[in-house]
Amino acid sequence: MDLDLEGKVALVTGGSRGIGRAIGIALAREGVRLVLAARTEADVQRAAREIEKTTGREALAVAGDVTRVADIERMVEAADARFGGVDILVSNAGVPGGIGFGPLADVDDSDVMQDIETKFMGLLRTARAVAPHMQERGWGRIIGIAGLSARYSSSYATERNPEGAFNYSGGPRNLGVIHLMRTLAHELGKDGITANTVLPGATRTEALDQMLERRAEELGKSVEELRQLSASGNAIKRWVDASEIADVVTFIASPRAGSISGEVIPASGGAGMGIFI
Ligand SMILES: NC(=O)c1ccc[n+]([C@@H]2O[C@H](COP(=O)([O-])OP(=O)(O)OC[C@H]3O[C@@H](n4cnc5c(N)ncnc54)[C@H](OP(=O)(O)O)[C@@H]3O)[C@@H](O)[C@H]2O)c1
Repeated sequence: MDLDLEGKVALVTGGSRGIGRAIGIALAREGVRLVLAARTEADVQRAAREIEKTTGREALAVAGDVTRVADIERMVEAADARFGGVDILVSNAGVPGGIGFGPLADVDDSDVMQDIETKFMGLLRTARAVAPHMQERGWGRIIGIAGLSARYSSSYATERNPEGAFNYSGGPRNLGVIHLMRTLAHELGKDGITANTVLPGATRTEALDQMLERRAEELGKSVEELRQLSASGNAIKRWVDASEIADVVTFIASPRAGSISGEVIPASGGAGMGIFI
C-alpha cells in the first residue's frame, strides 16, 4: 500500500530517542520531512543526522522543552521557516511511566504537575500552535502517544521506590491525552484534521533495555528471563519494539487513515485480559 506521505512535514516531540526516534525513522522512510524536538540538543541533533543518513530525507533538529510555550513556538517557527508549515504532529515527549509515585504521603505535587505539564499541556499547546497550519491546508494529523496506563492504575518498582509504589500521574496524564484528542477530533474534523491516541504498553527502547539490564544485575537474573517474565501478561508473549509503535503511527499519520479520528489505538501486543476496557 502506498501511504501517500511523500513530501509531508511532521513535527515529532521527544524525537531524539526511543519511540519518538523510531517514529521519525518510519515517517522519513515514507518520504516525510521531519522536525525532531527534545530538550537535549546533542541528542536531538544526533538523531536527526542519523535519520538523514539512513533514509536520505531531511530532518531538522530543534532543542526545546514542551513545557515551555516559547520553546513550542520556536519548534513550529523552525518547521515553518524550513518546510513551510506542519502537516503531522506526533506529541510523544514524556518520561515513560511518569514520575509522580507514592506512597500517597510522599507524592510530590511538583512531580505530578510535571507529568501533566509535559504530556497533557505539552500536547494542548503544541496542537494549538500547529492547528492553524493544518487548517490553512485543509489537511492534518495529530497523534498523541499516551500509554496503556490510561486503562490500568499501576504499582511497580522504580529506582526511587525499588519495593514498588503506586503511580499517581502516569495514568492520569495519559487519560487526559485521550480526552483531549477526542475533543480536538471533533473541533478540527471539519478542517480535514484527524486526532488520535496511540497507547503503547511496555515497549522496547534503548532506555528500557538499560533499565532491564540494571534490574537483572540487581536480582541476579538474566535479561532474557526478566524480559520473558514482563511480557507474560500480553497476548504475543514478547516485548513490542518501538519500531512497531512507529508503524502504527505512520499508518494513522497517512492520508489512508482519514476514517480514523478521535480513536484510541492500543499497540501493546494485547496486554491484559479485560474485554471492554
Ligand atoms: N517505552 C514504553 O514502554 C512506553 C510505554 C507507554 C507509553 N510510553 C510513552 O511513549 C513516549 C516515549 O517514551 P520512550 O519510552 O520512547 O521514552 P524515552 O526513550 O525516555 O524518550 C523520551 C523522549 O522525550 C523527550 N522529552 C522528555 N521530556 C521532554 C520535554 N519536556 N520536552 C521535550 N522533549 C522531552 C526526551 O528527550 P530529552 O530528555 O532530551 O528531552 C526523549 O527524546 C512517552 O510519552 C511515554 O510515556 C512509553
